[in-house]
Amino acid sequence: TRTSASLLVIFGATGDLAQRMLFPSLYGLARDGLLAPALRILGTARSELDAADFRHIVAGAVQRHVPAAEFDATVLEALLARIDYRSADTADAASMQQLGDTITGLRHGDVVYHLSTAPRFYAPICDALGAQGLAGEGTRVLLEKPIGHDLASAIAINDGVTRVFDEARVFRVDHYLGKEGVQNLLALRFGNALFEPLWNARHIQQVQITLAETVGVEGRGDYYDHSGAMRDMVQNHLLQLLCLTAMEPPSQFEPTAVRNEKLKVLRSLRPIGAAQVATETVAGQYTAGAVNGQPVPGYLDELGHASRTETFVALRAHVDNWRWSGVPFYLRTGKRLPSRTTEIHLQFRAVPHSIFGGVQMAPNSLTIRLQPQEQIELRLMSKTPGLDRAGPRLSQVALDLDMHEEFAAHRRRPAYERLYLDAIEGNGTLFVRRDETEAAWEWVDGVLDGWRHADLAPRPYAAGTWGPSSALAMAERHGHSWRE
Ligand code: BG6
Repeated sequence: TRTSASLLVIFGATGDLAQRMLFPSLYGLARDGLLAPALRILGTARSELDAADFRHIVAGAVQRHVPAAEFDATVLEALLARIDYRSADTADAASMQQLGDTITGLRHGDVVYHLSTAPRFYAPICDALGAQGLAGEGTRVLLEKPIGHDLASAIAINDGVTRVFDEARVFRVDHYLGKEGVQNLLALRFGNALFEPLWNARHIQQVQITLAETVGVEGRGDYYDHSGAMRDMVQNHLLQLLCLTAMEPPSQFEPTAVRNEKLKVLRSLRPIGAAQVATETVAGQYTAGAVNGQPVPGYLDELGHASRTETFVALRAHVDNWRWSGVPFYLRTGKRLPSRTTEIHLQFRAVPHSIFGGVQMAPNSLTIRLQPQEQIELRLMSKTPGLDRAGPRLSQVALDLDMHEEFAAHRRRPAYERLYLDAIEGNGTLFVRRDETEAAWEWVDGVLDGWRHADLAPRPYAAGTWGPSSALAMAERHGHSWRE
């Protein structure tokens, strides 16, 4: 049974994520009347602030990050009135005790703890909450990525957290799952009878999932340099998109059914190890270049020291099951690429026989674009109008659905609005289960170990290009080409 939380406690409440995403999303929910009137919000971090200082910080963050057209000072005032702050040091028992007293004073029902801190604090925070009897039934915990930097560290974090909160009360955030376009992928696949019969190796020749960013490491060099594109994007966002694209239809849109199907995909991923990394993967690192006409420095210049961390990954994955046998899933992600594009592209097989003689026919394709605009594009062959003596001429045309135009009256909601609403209501469907995270790490560890054994250094690519040329070559060897 699910009950709505009475208190949301945000650890790391003065951090960047809280400022950019969390409080603006709570504002969005408040504006639409989606927060229960009695819900209280408690921010906590190490900084010694009083509640008034903290509310002032939140007000600034909301004003900076909420579009002016959506800003309403009365809504902000009402949101601030729900917010309290208490500084706490997770390493200091007395201060955690005080925090516990504050939580006890504020809660009058379920509590959601959102850990938006460095992951090394997750287990100690959970232990402290558990020790004070604040982690029992009716409480749940939201964890931000990264859950570890490899399988062993992920297991250690998960063990530490689930010693206190049983798995059903652990909500691991992958903010991609909160994006409207990602959920629409499920609506498209399972709300239509049209696609599912074609959604398999018999009809699909290859799948490409691209998660391209124009930004560099943006002052997060410390974190990023220990992580790299493989851990930062592939282990979570890209593999989640792969799961939703490749999974079998779940019997219901509910946490267990959906996550069971995603897990099966992760467990069907063909391992890529030392023997395969050279042909099936490419790691890259950007050098100085230009993005959207603006000159930008290279990764090493931004970082200020030498590094072999990859800022680009392309790989050729296989889901070894009946549905997908033999279909390559090309995955790529990178920083400082030419455009901010997130899309899933399915290319269908060629027609079995042409009745039009030597006419060139491009295969059909379906592209589900999530960013920068949500779009769905189906490419078909069509007759080019005209009277051609030699027989009909055909050209490729696009059926193009722009979701922003189609749903112009609907606000585009940031991912955390969906995720907070679900966490407050206790619905885990769009959160990642422990076994998924660990299966994803196991596969990613294989690639990372492979790189280490093969002593592969990332190849340079100029900022503003689609990664190293070897990424193009990887697809071309198999007669495929990446979309631009
Ligand atoms: C985060 C990564 O998880 O996702 C960042 O740590 C990345 O490096 C970000 O920039 C991308 O998210 P979005 O929503 O901007 O596509």
